[in-house]
Amino acid sequence: MITASTGSQYAGILGIGSYRPRRAVPNAEILEQIDSSDEWIQTRSGIKERRWASEDETVLMMSVNAAKEALADSGIDPSEIGCVIVATVTHLYQTPAIATRIAVEVGAPTAAAFDISAACAGFCYGVAMANDLVRGGSAKYVLAIGVERLSDITDRTDRGTAFIFADGAGAAIVGPTDEPGIGPVVWGSDGTQHQVISQKESWVEVHGNHNWPHLTMDGNPVFRWASFEMAKAAQRALDVAGVKAEQLDLFVPHQANMRITDAMRRTLKLPEHVKVARDIERQGNTSAASIPLAITAMREAGEAKSGDLALIIGFGAGLVYAAQVIRLP
Ligand code: COA
Repeated sequence: MITASTGSQYAGILGIGSYRPRRAVPNAEILEQIDSSDEWIQTRSGIKERRWASEDETVLMMSVNAAKEALADSGIDPSEIGCVIVATVTHLYQTPAIATRIAVEVGAPTAAAFDISAACAGFCYGVAMANDLVRGGSAKYVLAIGVERLSDITDRTDRGTAFIFADGAGAAIVGPTDEPGIGPVVWGSDGTQHQVISQKESWVEVHGNHNWPHLTMDGNPVFRWASFEMAKAAQRALDVAGVKAEQLDLFVPHQANMRITDAMRRTLKLPEHVKVARDIERQGNTSAASIPLAITAMREAGEAKSGDLALIIGFGAGLVYAAQVIRLP
């Protein structure tokens, strides 16, 4: 008979941190390379400026900074971290995972460590897995990170994507709690739409020539899918958590596009008191990093506080999505 692992009955987010690159890139700079206008970009996406990483702001550096902030926020000693999960699509090495180096640099050098590829749903995927690892007993504390340098894989001359994507990192410490701090995840995928946000060539195909496999996007089907289907997933996350919209304090969707956020807010019929994350206006779309970045921005602005109940939902290339209700540390 094999002994089964047993963990904590409940888990929650104990600390959150983020890293925002120093350089703000206004729409005017984007317009140097695409035929568009400041007004079009703002009306269609809500973005006024975005953050792009400088050379020293690597995936590793941004992750370590976000993780250290989350660790300090949680008060957990890094040596207690049993697993590091890094959600990213822009660590541009097939192997090894960036998670192992992050583990070393944050002071958890022997933790289990791996990367996941779940695009803009990455942070929510990471939190869902961390929740189950803690509750299942595979790790006492888990560091879940979402990090991207999308500026590296964005074609600056493509008017469909050049203004959207951005860089940054966010992190959460998940560990045992006395009461449920993370609701059941509602997640899934739709591989029939794999081509709508994708790299069109594999690394093998570009080997030998100097073209870079940029990220391409067929924005309109993504927009329609996100605006209609994701509100349903978010509603299901509320239902399975037994939480009513009126009980929420915050709605923090992936910062994909302000219009998608507004469409979801309307469909979910969120009451006026529920504060809605709008970090995209100043930060752009940072994929896996956008939710923790938005949460820390709301904390800094005094809009979010410890104990708040938040509905989070990530969605993106795959297509993939994940939504859950969380209580803020
Ligand atoms: N500047 C000016 N015009 C542009 C433009 C740009 N950067 N990009 C496209 N256009 C034009 C198109 O050519 C089209 O012109 P036409 O009507 O003459 O053919 C028109 O604007 C509308 O294009 P469309 O692609 O339908 O725009 P849209 O309303 O769908 O907005 C996005 C485009 C990208 C802002 C929007 O589709 C979007 O945000 N989608 C979701 C993207 C997203 O969230 N991705 C991340 C998920 S993780």
